[in-house]
Amino acid sequence: VNVAILGATGAVGKELLELLAERKFPLKNLKLLASTRSAGSKIIFQGQEIVVEAVADSSFDDVDILLASAGGSTSKAWAKKAVAAGAVVIDNSSAFRMDETVPLVVPEINPEAAGKHQGIIANPNCTTILMGVAIYPLHQIQPIKRVVVATYQSASGAGARAMEEAKIQARDILDGKQPLAEVLPYPIAFNLFPHNSPLNDQGYCEEELKMVNETRKIFNAPEIRVTATCVRVPILRAHSETVNLEFAQPFDVEQARELIAAAPGVKLVEDWQSNYFPMPIDATGQDPVLVGRIRQDISHPCGLELWLCGDQIRKGAALNAIQIAELLLEKNLLEVPDSAFSV
Ligand code: A2P
Repeated sequence: VNVAILGATGAVGKELLELLAERKFPLKNLKLLASTRSAGSKIIFQGQEIVVEAVADSSFDDVDILLASAGGSTSKAWAKKAVAAGAVVIDNSSAFRMDETVPLVVPEINPEAAGKHQGIIANPNCTTILMGVAIYPLHQIQPIKRVVVATYQSASGAGARAMEEAKIQARDILDGKQPLAEVLPYPIAFNLFPHNSPLNDQGYCEEELKMVNETRKIFNAPEIRVTATCVRVPILRAHSETVNLEFAQPFDVEQARELIAAAPGVKLVEDWQSNYFPMPIDATGQDPVLVGRIRQDISHPCGLELWLCGDQIRKGAALNAIQIAELLLEKNLLEVPDSAFSV
């Protein structure tokens, strides 16, 4: 399969490269695309040097799958051109997620949605993916009525430069210097702040609304009520979340534990004796979402509480995109319908 990565020099782009190699994706040709800033730089992939190209109109000739991870405006500028050139685009940005003609896919939850693509498949928001794989096994047994979630989001969500900035800030603070914040609006080292995406007039930020709207779309359950508080914390690349679930009937905690332990993409991590539960350092570099502290909500007879950590760059972004690509191959879904965009 001929694959191109748009945003190959970024945090997610680099992880996509690792995963293509690690999972032995059946590659014929691999093209690495970025902006003019990185054009000409070289990346070693499986012992071979690949020169990064600036994305251009001709970039998508002979591309079967475009993995796009270069931000919303870049996806808006190029995705439809790639489809018109015959590629299926797996887009990691928020540009097309809520478009009715674009499936929003987490392979452990709604693989069937991928079959309806018109050339573009959207990869959901990272916090939404991590929560989704953890709570869907419960939703399948008893529909979730309401979700109250708080997130603890790592610097990686804002890209490779934000991760670098976090490390520099930590060093500066330990050296007694004033930390500089250029990528994120405030210092993230030894600090935390509510997610900096734009706020609406109800006081919710875009990141929080993604959790609301994308969860409903992925679960195909527009009736689920979701409220979220998203916070950036001084962690490099794994997000954590506290999730409160409300059902119509009480949910047996032991059953919830068994369902989560058996679910794909999830690992139950609970040692109540030692007070050992999922932590970002354990989730970093791991594929499964770590889930633990599953317990009855003492404030509501039909409520459950749980805690999770997941690698934001892996399952929260690159791994989910590669799983979608694998699904396309497995189900023979690489054809772009004639009705798809023409540019
Ligand atoms: P570049 O290295 O040329 O800036 P991250 O999310 O880690 O910040 O990475 C963003 C990725 O998106 C990088 O690979 C970056 O490439 C790429 N990118 C950003 N803006 C553009 C653009 N206008 N056109 C193409 N690629 C872009």
